[in-house]
Amino acid sequence: MLKKEVLISQSAIRRRVKEIADQISNDYRGTEPILVGILKGSIIFMADLMRDLTIPVQMDFIRAASYGSKMQSSGTVRVTKDIELPIQGKPVILIEDIVDSGLTLAYIKELLEGRGAASLKICALIDKPERRERHVLVDYCGFEVQEGFLVGYGLDCNEEFRNLPEICVLKE
Ligand code: IMP
Ligand code: MG
Repeated sequence: MLKKEVLISQSAIRRRVKEIADQISNDYRGTEPILVGILKGSIIFMADLMRDLTIPVQMDFIRAASYGSKMQSSGTVRVTKDIELPIQGKPVILIEDIVDSGLTLAYIKELLEGRGAASLKICALIDKPERRERHVLVDYCGFEVQEGFLVGYGLDCNEEFRNLPEICVLKE
């Protein structure tokens, strides 16, 4: 049986999301970046983050599969739903739930850079460097977590727990 333990509370998430939004609003003042959410895990983070921004933004989504239903990365990344907005010459911010091996983000970053985005930055709710295989620079990071499998606030385990309002760690 898997048990969950709260790791990051709702109020801590709320505070941190607001801080990141302030930083992004400041860094992108006078521009209109395209937020590209990586489905599905990023949607709750992205929905909260974008409502805290004080600059205009556009939104789009991309979906990549690398995990299957296991807790381990399969090592291969495949785009299963592409973005629809043109990003040529536009500032793009990739929004990700959690960076683990880094394979998903490294792949999507290279893909979008190849389409001529003016700039491409990465905003991740959680950076989990424990199992990093590809170096990726996380420009805006919510929380760094050393280890464990996390669920809630968009993060799932076999599609369960995405709607938990806090971030929990799964325990055997
Ligand atoms: P990466 O390609 O290994 O960096 O994997 C990134 C994706 O794996 C994330 O977008 C998540 O969907 C999933 N993932 C990695 N670690 C966790 C975790 O602790 N909980 C839930 N999903 C995770
Ligand atoms: Mg995911």
